[in-house]
Amino acid sequence: MTDTLADSRTSSRIFTEGVPVTVEPVTRRPAADREAVLADPGFGRSFTDSMFVARYEAGRGWHDARLTPYGPLQVDPATAALHYAQSIFEGLKAYAQPDGSVATFRPEANAARFARSARRLAMPPVPEEAFLAAVDALVDADRDWVPTGPDQTLYLRPYQLASEPFLGVRPATEYLFLVIASPAGAYFPRGVHPVSVYLSEDYIRAAPGGTGDVKCAGNYAASLLAQEQAIAAGCDQVVWLDAVEKRYVEEMGGMNLFFVLGSGDDAELVTPELTGTLLPGITRDSLVTVARDRGMRVTERKFSVDEWRAGVADGTVTETFACGTAAVITPVGEVKARTGDFTVGDGTPGPVTMGLREHLLDIQHGRVPDTHGWLHRVA
Ligand code: PLP
Ligand code: COI
Repeated sequence: MTDTLADSRTSSRIFTEGVPVTVEPVTRRPAADREAVLADPGFGRSFTDSMFVARYEAGRGWHDARLTPYGPLQVDPATAALHYAQSIFEGLKAYAQPDGSVATFRPEANAARFARSARRLAMPPVPEEAFLAAVDALVDADRDWVPTGPDQTLYLRPYQLASEPFLGVRPATEYLFLVIASPAGAYFPRGVHPVSVYLSEDYIRAAPGGTGDVKCAGNYAASLLAQEQAIAAGCDQVVWLDAVEKRYVEEMGGMNLFFVLGSGDDAELVTPELTGTLLPGITRDSLVTVARDRGMRVTERKFSVDEWRAGVADGTVTETFACGTAAVITPVGEVKARTGDFTVGDGTPGPVTMGLREHLLDIQHGRVPDTHGWLHRVA
């Protein structure tokens, strides 16, 4: 069945001051097609019926905000973002709640990080309330696409790019802000299974003064060769070391890392401190809080490869896991490095990793009280 609205209309939603959200007619995918996608969504390969688009022009500000049918963009071949990567993005999820409503998780934190990323790339920031309004408008319009299967979500991808057709190297005067949505199952198709990692000694992700602490597109382009090297070495993921001494562990691929020291009631968490070269993950920040709620000691400090290796050998380091919005929490098992391989744990996910994972998922899916006010009801 298709449900086509006759005309564009101005909704009661406001993107930012003086800019209402126009809703264009959208042809909805038949329910049977949608259900087929939702039965096994994978990650990042299917998209919903609508998308959100707003434009910026120097001197005019943000304007022309609309919900429009999901579809190709027409871009000039000289579009600045295609040449110089003046482009940023965010990732967050909408979760079906047990009462039938839909909620996003800490979207204010994504809005704030998006604005920080924009400033670092010399872009006009999307006002934080406008970011939230855009995400809410899209989730509300496409709420039928929020999957309800175990641990399924609607992954949301806000992004901003320099759309001015101009080849000079300077901040563009025109930008697009978009939000697209993609139903998501597990990010790692093998499920909760320890990943093997390769310590990158040839490449770095981020250097002091660079862009490692923001989500700009170029960071991900520059990471791909190291990820390929990890795969060639028989590993699932790359682990990044600090650029200066190549001694300290920073991140795993696009995820933050945690180390569990000790076990049982004495277990302690260590996560690399935010030195300016790590992305301040919202999952990382949430887990620091959740772990403290559970009575665990959590320390943010530098953590070296030597400490990791020695800790695994003498039993001090009992578990290691990575965390991020897309994959939530993933245990780390085998570690390969030119300086010698080692394995954390016994090849199965550890109890602290799994306890924190369940706790966070329970909050996000509304199965336990949201004591920190992290859920934002959308629809
Ligand atoms: N580190 C990097 C480099 C990332 O791209 C991401 C993903 O956004 C994360 C960490 C985890 O951040 P978050 O928990 O906010 O998704
Ligand atoms: C994450 O959510 O953990 C990410 O790194 C997003 C990724 C798909 C870029």
